[in-house]
Amino acid sequence: MEYTGLSSIRLSDYHIDPQIGFLLRDALMPVVDHSRLCGHRQLRLAHLQLSVIVNGYVWQDGDHGVPKSLPPCLAIPFCGISRLLDVQPILSHIDLVLSNWAFIDKSRPPSLDNIRVLYNLPGGEEAAWFFKATVGVELAFCSALQPMVTAIEAADVGDDVTLIKCLVDLASTVNSMQTAVSKMHDGVSADTFYNVTRPFLTGWGGEGSPLPEGIVYEGVNDYPVQMTGGSAAQSSTVQSIDALLGITHAPDIQAFFDRMKPHMPRPHRQFLDDIRERSKIKSYVHSSSNEDLKSAYGKCIQSLVDFRSYHIQLVTKYIVIASSKKRQEEEKYKSVSKKGTGGSSVLPFLKSSRDTTKQAYISDTKVTSDLNPAMNS
Ligand code: HEM
Repeated sequence: MEYTGLSSIRLSDYHIDPQIGFLLRDALMPVVDHSRLCGHRQLRLAHLQLSVIVNGYVWQDGDHGVPKSLPPCLAIPFCGISRLLDVQPILSHIDLVLSNWAFIDKSRPPSLDNIRVLYNLPGGEEAAWFFKATVGVELAFCSALQPMVTAIEAADVGDDVTLIKCLVDLASTVNSMQTAVSKMHDGVSADTFYNVTRPFLTGWGGEGSPLPEGIVYEGVNDYPVQMTGGSAAQSSTVQSIDALLGITHAPDIQAFFDRMKPHMPRPHRQFLDDIRERSKIKSYVHSSSNEDLKSAYGKCIQSLVDFRSYHIQLVTKYIVIASSKKRQEEEKYKSVSKKGTGGSSVLPFLKSSRDTTKQAYISDTKVTSDLNPAMNS
């Protein structure tokens, strides 16, 4: 009997190969062509996705070892996309916070109970809460934007009434940011944050790092590159308030803030620079004899000091105490146990940043940092 094949099943229709069956031929695909991505939003989403994959690839085995290089299929598109966006090729605040959320119900306003995260790190619901709570701080900051812009103009034209109103609004916003950051306690334990989630936010390079030289982005560099890890210090919120109020930090602290800037979207960096250059508010207030104006400026400074003091409490709970618990078990992490994700020596650094904030206001109005006197060593 002769078989024509006309009515028979053709294996190729089913992606079945007579030689290798159900197996996929040439499974190793060419490097993704990132230049085909269109526009800012696609680039941002791709950066988020690749950053999660890359940090997972590097840190997935924990203490069992880290790769010294990223393969070209990750390194080439990640660096290419980062170059187009003009941000760093590593998971940063831009990814896990700024790009990483969606409305649950678009018809309702943004709030903690109406947003979800798109991508998560190890730590389950607690990790998701960490990112959501940080989105909450970004959202709380929004009501400062218009007052900030108006305040600059009001100082330029000497409109004290408007300037006072803007400063009062700004102080109230910073208080709301503190309330927002306090939500961290509602959904994240120090143990999960420190031991499960935070390792995946780590950068590469520097003393105490499992990758002291950094990592090679294969196909891009043939030498190791160092990168600061993800931190909310890369948020433009607090830095823009510093810029508006004319707060200048000590050179080493400022150097840290400057290292955070390449992790921010370029237009956001530009916003910080323009606010810093345009705002004459500090000198205007200092040379004014209007006591109401001085008091409003002082309240802004106080609110930022309070925010930074509260943040020090968070860092004490989530990093310093958590790390000292872990220190006995994990000799390996001993040398970095009190260091932040950015590799800074964390408490003196944060206290210096807070205390410089305080110094921006010199007057009879007392600006304190006594939320928790035990912190103020
Ligand atoms: C559990 C929660 C948090 C922890 C454990 C934490 C930890 C840290 C650490 C260790 C630093 C030192 C810099 C570094 O090494 O990265 C830092 C800096 C900073 N963090 Fe956080 N952070 C938390 C939440 C937040 C949130 C939600 C914000 C909101 C924007 C924030 C804003 C900042 C800022 C602005 C700095 C720079 C220091 C300053 O301006 O005084 N942090 N944080």
